[in-house]
Amino acid sequence: MKALVLAGGKGTRLRPLTHTSAKQLVPVANKPVLFYGLEAIRDAGIRSVGVVIGDTGAEVREAVGDGSRFGLDVTYIPQEAPLGLAHCVLIAREFLRDDPFVMYLGDNFLVGGISGLVDAFHAGRCDARILLTKVAEPQFYGVAEIGPQGEIRGLQEKPECPRSDLAIVGVYTFSPAIHEAVRAIRPSMRGELEITDAIQWLIDNGFRVNSHLVSGYWKDTGRLRDILECNRIVLEQIEPEVAGTVDGLSEVTGRIIVERGAVVENSLLRGPIVVGADTKIISSYVGPFTSIGRGCVVQNAEIEYSIVLDGSSVDGVSRIAHSLIGRNVEVSRAAGVSNTHELMVGDHSKIQVKA
Ligand code: TTP
Repeated sequence: MKALVLAGGKGTRLRPLTHTSAKQLVPVANKPVLFYGLEAIRDAGIRSVGVVIGDTGAEVREAVGDGSRFGLDVTYIPQEAPLGLAHCVLIAREFLRDDPFVMYLGDNFLVGGISGLVDAFHAGRCDARILLTKVAEPQFYGVAEIGPQGEIRGLQEKPECPRSDLAIVGVYTFSPAIHEAVRAIRPSMRGELEITDAIQWLIDNGFRVNSHLVSGYWKDTGRLRDILECNRIVLEQIEPEVAGTVDGLSEVTGRIIVERGAVVENSLLRGPIVVGADTKIISSYVGPFTSIGRGCVVQNAEIEYSIVLDGSSVDGVSRIAHSLIGRNVEVSRAAGVSNTHELMVGDHSKIQVKA
């Protein structure tokens, strides 16, 4: 079995970060979300992985390399434009040959791995087995209607009247029959070749399409609040480790990881928190569910429930929460001017300041 990992796309919901970087490389507890998926693929016993890349392909190649650090053998498949999930299958035809494969959306975060799905696919002899999870608001998802044996009877895309509360998770297993389906379908209203249309084509043409329920937690990390929640879930499980230094004036409670070369001075840290290598936390408060990247400075500041990417600084600012701060960003106090916010912010940024 092979894997096809989708790491292209537009990432419009995560602008401005996605103007300059791949959304699949946004870190969750200081590790790119894509890496969790690659590890799950490896743990399911798969070795050969095709990674679909788009405009941010160079960055993805740089981060993932030849895959050997994950125990994988990675082939890159450039996509000329984000023309849809089924388009990714279409352009991966040569790589996939006639092997069955797992398709994994590179921005999806799944706790509990994919071995259960892969085993069920092999045992069930069907042409597609797709992962489903119960959701509270199915109208915002692709929804599957299933029969008593878990067979999929039909799919609906963001339906006004959902026929079930089972949403389609971004991990699918396919037999080579899917290649005929992706060739047969036409682009949707939004101009993309939709994988839901290809799966519906399989159903309509008598192929066996079955389902598998997610056992653990799942999130599509396409939006800020979802990334922050994934960060919380991962941080709740971390093994505490202090490889950097925490001085005697600092107070630490809860689980924290302080990576090598990081320095914590005169600060209050309430875990779970991860502090990246060579980062300095000085005279600050860092609250629960916060991941600070590598080479950052947090000084005379307060921050919690946030993610700060590498090379950024937060200086003299209280209190930052529910925030995602990109790479090499400076957040500081406006010098000498009271009640004034001074901003130089990229396109499509979102700033919420105290009234
Ligand atoms: P989506 O989140 O559905 O799409 P997107 O990345 O364009 O994001 P947004 O809606 O915020 O604009 O994509 C799911 C995953 O599949 C994601 O990792 C990107 C990837 N993808 C491709 O590689 N090629 C494509 O043509 C599309 C549509 C997505």
